[in-house]
Amino acid sequence: MATTPSFFSVLMILLGLWENVSAQSGGKSLTPENYWWTCPEAEAIVFDGVARAVAQDPRMAASLLRMHFHDCFVQGCDASILLDGNATFGEKTAGPNNNSLRGFEVIDSIKTELEFACPGIVSCADILAIAARDSVVLTGGPAWLVQLGRKDSRTPNRKEANEKLPPPNSDVGKLIRMFHDVGLTEEDMVTLSGAHTIGKARCSSFRDRLQSQPDPTLGNRLLTSLKQLCGFNNTNPLTNLDLKTPITFDNGYYRNLPSGEGLLRSDQVLYSTDERTKNLVEYYIHNPEAFFHNFKVSMIKMGNIRPLLGKDGEVRRHCRFPN
Ligand code: HEM
Ligand SMILES: *[C@@H]1O[C@H](CO)[C@@H](O)[C@H](O)[C@H]1NC(C)=O
Ligand SMILES: *[C@@H]1O[C@H](CO)[C@@H](O)[C@H](O)[C@H]1NC(C)=O
Ligand SMILES: *[C@@H]1O[C@H](CO)[C@@H](O)[C@H](O)[C@H]1NC(C)=O
Repeated sequence: MATTPSFFSVLMILLGLWENVSAQSGGKSLTPENYWWTCPEAEAIVFDGVARAVAQDPRMAASLLRMHFHDCFVQGCDASILLDGNATFGEKTAGPNNNSLRGFEVIDSIKTELEFACPGIVSCADILAIAARDSVVLTGGPAWLVQLGRKDSRTPNRKEANEKLPPPNSDVGKLIRMFHDVGLTEEDMVTLSGAHTIGKARCSSFRDRLQSQPDPTLGNRLLTSLKQLCGFNNTNPLTNLDLKTPITFDNGYYRNLPSGEGLLRSDQVLYSTDERTKNLVEYYIHNPEAFFHNFKVSMIKMGNIRPLLGKDGEVRRHCRFPN
């Protein structure tokens, strides 16, 4: 008898093993069906919240798309970006995010509705992933099934927020390295940069291109208008990332580049300095449907960066605070 394991211990071993299996097989544990039984209305609630916010402020679509990117590149897609901090703690005030990232109240109000409908079920990290997809759809871009089941982190990571997000003065080599660091390819990098087909940037993100020896890849017409905009006062005005179709998700971002009309240095270099990335830009100029297809694939890949699974994370009750 002593050598026969009890039914209970066998069950525990199986459960233990199962937990390991499901926690390790990244691909298996995020699935579009994650909330089908536990919160079937989850995606509809997120969509309504995003749609209302975008109707009020069209730029919000861009801001929410960017929020998911800034979440995923820092410690994985774990909603660490949403944790409140202070001047020296948390990700919100880190260099790439301070005075720039927006949309936190939109996520808060969606979370409030979700906690009312199905308390403790839908993670903040998943809300960001769904809201990013909905933002693309609402501005005219492609739709895809969002992989779900991420848990939320208990801590933010200020150091990674300062080090892992690519700065706008990056050259192609640096962009490729920083995307490679999180498991994304050069092709993913060029494709995801197409997100700059919507939204705005502050003069401080590209002012260095306008100085006494302006960036030679910057077209003259754009240079003149940006000098005027960013002129000599202390304000930090905004301008559209995509000159052609600033609030429509299309391939306009790529169509700007041959005439030197990419706003950020990191945009223009994709066309002007590197044959490989230039080829893909040209391909997207002529094949908008290929851009849409690849964008879906790369967004799903980005959404899969180091998700927290099982007990490695929690479902926050409020996105700004750990439970
Ligand atoms: C390739 C490297 C990238 C760099 C260097 C970069 C840099 C920037 C910068 C500097 C801004 C303007 C911030 C400001 O002035 O306030 C911006 C805005 C934006 N970025 Fe990126 N970004 C990159 C990739 C991405 C990716 C992968 C996405 C999403 C998939 C994305 C989505 C956006 C959006 C939508 C905006 C506009 C946000 C708004 O209007 O609120 N970016 N980006
Ligand atoms: C910021 O928050 C951290 C963590 O809660 C804390 O240790 C630190 O003292 C706070 N700093 C300031 C300036 O409030
Ligand atoms: C963030 O922005 C505020 C307001 O402009 C500024 O006072 C603060 O120094 C900035 N924080 C960091 C860490 O750069
Ligand atoms: C700063 O310059 C911009 C662009 O010329 C202008 O729209 C804005 O009104 C100026 N702000 C102030 C405070 O002068």
